[in-house]
Amino acid sequence: MAGEAVLAGPWQSLTQSFFWPKPSVDMKTRVAGAALCCLLAALAEAAPVVDTTYAYTGPAIPVGDWVDPTVNGNGKGFPRLVEPPAVAPSTKNPTNNVNVIQLSYLPNGINIHYQTPFGLGELPTIMWGTTAGKLDNATHGYTHTYDRTPPCSLVAVTQCSQFFHDVQVTGLKPGTTYYYQIPGANGTTTSPVMKFTTALAAGDETPFSMAVLNDMGYTNAAGTFQHLTQAVDEGVAFAWHGGDLSYADDWYSGILPCESDWPVCYNGTSTQLPPGDFPSAYNDPLPEGEVPNQGGPLGGDMSVLYESNWDLWQQWIGKVTNKVPYMVIPGNHEAACAEFDGPGNPLTAYLDGDQSNATAANSSLTYYSCPPSQRNFTTYQHRFYMPGDETGGVGNFWYSFDYGMVHFIAINGETDFPNSPEYPFEADLKGNETHPTESQTYVTDSGPFGAVNGSYSKVQSYQQYQWLVKDLANVDRSKTPWVIAMSHRPMYSSETSSYQTYVRNAFEALLLENNVDMYLSGHIHWYERLWPLGANGTIDSTSIVNNNTYLTNPGKSMTHIINGMAGNIESHSFLDADEPIKNITNVLDQEHYGFSKLTVLNATALKWDFIRGDGAGIGDSLTLLKKGCYNF
Ligand SMILES: [Fe+2]
Repeated sequence: MAGEAVLAGPWQSLTQSFFWPKPSVDMKTRVAGAALCCLLAALAEAAPVVDTTYAYTGPAIPVGDWVDPTVNGNGKGFPRLVEPPAVAPSTKNPTNNVNVIQLSYLPNGINIHYQTPFGLGELPTIMWGTTAGKLDNATHGYTHTYDRTPPCSLVAVTQCSQFFHDVQVTGLKPGTTYYYQIPGANGTTTSPVMKFTTALAAGDETPFSMAVLNDMGYTNAAGTFQHLTQAVDEGVAFAWHGGDLSYADDWYSGILPCESDWPVCYNGTSTQLPPGDFPSAYNDPLPEGEVPNQGGPLGGDMSVLYESNWDLWQQWIGKVTNKVPYMVIPGNHEAACAEFDGPGNPLTAYLDGDQSNATAANSSLTYYSCPPSQRNFTTYQHRFYMPGDETGGVGNFWYSFDYGMVHFIAINGETDFPNSPEYPFEADLKGNETHPTESQTYVTDSGPFGAVNGSYSKVQSYQQYQWLVKDLANVDRSKTPWVIAMSHRPMYSSETSSYQTYVRNAFEALLLENNVDMYLSGHIHWYERLWPLGANGTIDSTSIVNNNTYLTNPGKSMTHIINGMAGNIESHSFLDADEPIKNITNVLDQEHYGFSKLTVLNATALKWDFIRGDGAGIGDSLTLLKKGCYNF
């Protein structure tokens, strides 16, 4: 990576200014619909979300289906899937609708995020109170939007989101249940009375459970979803999803040929795999309860439109997100419309040359290959609300929150540190250039989303790192004896990759010095529990009680878990026959889907369970105990 730039490029600063600071409207005041529309239009015009120095030359609406390349399909190609909206419309042909509702924690409150296909004509509003029958408080928020492709005017009203509403309800009591309702506006149906529960105050010693999941798409995740919703019904306080949220960028399953070891592929007009050379894993049966689909037994049942995949996934996971707070972290699949091309480079031909069912001599996907609204984490920035601003971090990218005895830290493992997996334009510059040429860029180029004050090669230059220093220094261990960090990217695994070195170089020493107890991650699509590890991957054998019980060792080691087994169209990761399981790995499950449940028992003990999606119960358990508190 080249470049020793001093400050974040203006193209990225513009991205930030669209969201942070938030629109300077008085959130407590209703404004006339016309005035709000003007405000939104002005915001959108004043602050482009992405760099558009070079023209987008692909199809107006990319559709990942050669059989039926129309936006709404005619039934001959890949099916368009349907998930119920968050609010059931009161009329048969609604003109607008609340399709997605998501809760997330704020300090002393809750953010209620909801999505509609069209604007509300007024500020979004939440009516709330402490009893279901008396919602006598009104809090207003703000609306943001982006030029999605295709626009919701071309998609079914109850299956599309283009206007994103965030209402911050603060000044609430901790650990308290409140009731709320979203009033109808501009054609939407008034929601039922729903409820949320605020976080336990830091220092509250009440035991609790929460769900941790990573790499959860729509395909292959039915079992995980079933057991996750069951866990929510049984009382997990919230869910924490550490990146790769929908796999929307695998929209091209009807374009890429099945000639590689990549399960996201197209097989002509048939729903069966062709005879010939394809990986043997394609013949593996799905876990019980999973639904086979086109594109091969392991993949396929998702939309062939990038944005509709987001809509589909959000409406599906809505059974969780409107019941408990759903905290998210960015993953690589949130960055752009694609990560790389397939055999014969059909995506390059399609997105760069607007040629359907064609090949290109070389793969040349650049930052400008995706439609503008499908670059630079745009979708991720609009479709969620995380408490970055409220906790000294940045938007949905890095933040922290307390819940009872735990301080949770969300680290962005994708951008904003040296050699990050998705890299900024600065890394593409050559010589005295101030802006890369089109061909110097890469399709996933993104960020930085915070400032970079100094050399791009030094982690200390990054706002994210400086924030992490401060956040860790401010932890009061007498209130939150447990500190748990998560990023999408692991630091260590039996599957070695160069990004692990860069994540370690950026964050490991800081986390160890500050006595962080656990480092959670995903990205690799399996469940892997490592032995307690110190710097350089040294196994801390003094902290091992037995296979399923570790001790913390402040300043010396952490527990690392790779939790990427929720299920998605890309299916499982697995080691090749000649790849050994490393000695740092205690447990490796390459077969089963699921999520994990963390139960904080008290100030000195917590339990971690891998909940299998096939109904077989617990796939792995770890008890983590505070050093010096127990005798063995
Ligand atoms: Fe990933």
